[in-house]
Amino acid sequence: MDTTPTGLGKSELDYSTISLENFPERKVWLKTFGCQMNYHDSDRMVAHLKRLNFSQTSDLEEADLVLFNTCAVRDLANNKFYSQLGELKHLKKKKGSDLIIGVGGCVAQTEGKDLIKKYKHLNFAFGPDTMDSINDMVYRTYAGDDKFAINSWDRSSDFSIETKINHGTPQAFVNIIKGCDKYCTYCIVPYTRGRERSRKKDEIVQDVKRLVEYQGIQEVMLLGQNVNSFGKENGENLSELIMDLDQINGLEILRYTTSHPYDVSDQLIEVHGSAKKLSKHLHLPVQSGSDTVLQRMNREYTKEHYLGLLEKLRKSQPEIVISSDIICGFVNETDEEHKETIDLLDRAQFDFIYSYVYSERSKTRASKMDDFLTKEVRKARLHEVQAHQLKIQEKIRKSMEGNTYRVLVEGSNEMKGEKKWKGRTNCNRIIHFKGEMKGHEIDRNLKWHWVDVKCISTTALSCQGELQEIYGRRLQ
Ligand code: SAH
Ligand code: SF4
Ligand code: F3S
Repeated sequence: MDTTPTGLGKSELDYSTISLENFPERKVWLKTFGCQMNYHDSDRMVAHLKRLNFSQTSDLEEADLVLFNTCAVRDLANNKFYSQLGELKHLKKKKGSDLIIGVGGCVAQTEGKDLIKKYKHLNFAFGPDTMDSINDMVYRTYAGDDKFAINSWDRSSDFSIETKINHGTPQAFVNIIKGCDKYCTYCIVPYTRGRERSRKKDEIVQDVKRLVEYQGIQEVMLLGQNVNSFGKENGENLSELIMDLDQINGLEILRYTTSHPYDVSDQLIEVHGSAKKLSKHLHLPVQSGSDTVLQRMNREYTKEHYLGLLEKLRKSQPEIVISSDIICGFVNETDEEHKETIDLLDRAQFDFIYSYVYSERSKTRASKMDDFLTKEVRKARLHEVQAHQLKIQEKIRKSMEGNTYRVLVEGSNEMKGEKKWKGRTNCNRIIHFKGEMKGHEIDRNLKWHWVDVKCISTTALSCQGELQEIYGRRLQ
């Protein structure tokens, strides 16, 4: 793997000697691709940049600094980023040295040096592990030293961070583990995010307590590429972490993502029944329903093992809702193997799935396998999987009708000319509802309020409800 020791690990700027007067007010325009880890990293960067007097803008024209946080997991995200980066050369021409452009994240980790060479208007590139040094990079660029690419790994003895949020919502992502050691044969993530490293349990508990007590956080999403491996190197585990966090007063909902089925322990399954604050939703990517494909993917479990996990989870927590990821048309997938996935959908009864066609990633083991499948076959299988799942979903959603759900309102949107609020249930379903209750219009901003909503009608992809009760911004 390409690593460049640079000395740039944690931020080296000494803020006590830097006065904000040295930094005029500036604007950063930031575009994030990929998973929640990337969105979380972007939040961290914005928080860091505030200390250099940057505020965020959504208007590219007024930006002094443009940052991309990139994803390399599939072609689609990759391509979107490349075309947007290409287009920026016009803005750079117009603004000259008044515009700085940086590319961070997973594409920059493996291709940063090539990007710098290829795109003359790009100032710097940096991998995910150096993202906490964004201010050093920006500072260095303003000092006239640019065209650098940094893809070093943070090699400090333990993974220790404090969660930084600045969005003012009651929901927060909290990173508990970084990297991935699984090396699924199709996946680029272990090459872009490095080896697994966990934070210490006590540090996370203190971090979440602080977020709840001082920053108004009520819902926490524990993040990692493989959260089930949490704590292995420190003799700790995810179940114990969840049970500790479950004790925090004022925390209402605890979620975690993403899980690998291989590491779902009996203890964790039990915790789904006993932890009061743990969400009744679990995203458990299966990828395929065929044992032979799972083997070629190096997933380390079988279809029956996976279905057995779902059975145990549903026994432990009867209200649990499960979602998953499916890759269609993995290298040399046969018709029979594909049908095994359709059968799995029938048996698993997922609440929703994210489904993708297999996308070849260089460096991965799958990219070195002979592959006889065509794009057309892959796409046709994707469509079949999606259509099949939609039929299942339609039935599952129908069963929600008549039930009342406690939801945290996240915002509103216009639907067919009508303003509707939308909220997320504990089990991660979005419900839309009008601002009226028992025949009376509610002229109140319900954003970030807890409410009860009765589900009235559903389709495979949406759910409409009626407002029953408003509790305010806090439940207790
Ligand atoms: N760590 C998580 C998710 C990682 S990436 C996990 O293991 O579940 C998110 C999803 O992208 C994966 O679950 C997989 O379905 C999909 N994915 C990853 N690499 C892919 C590839 N090369 N082609 C198509 N889909 C891919
Ligand atoms: Fe990729 Fe597999 Fe790791 Fe998930 S577990 S990030 S799919 S290598
Ligand atoms: Fe993409 Fe990197 Fe996440 S490759 S899915 S942004 S870990």
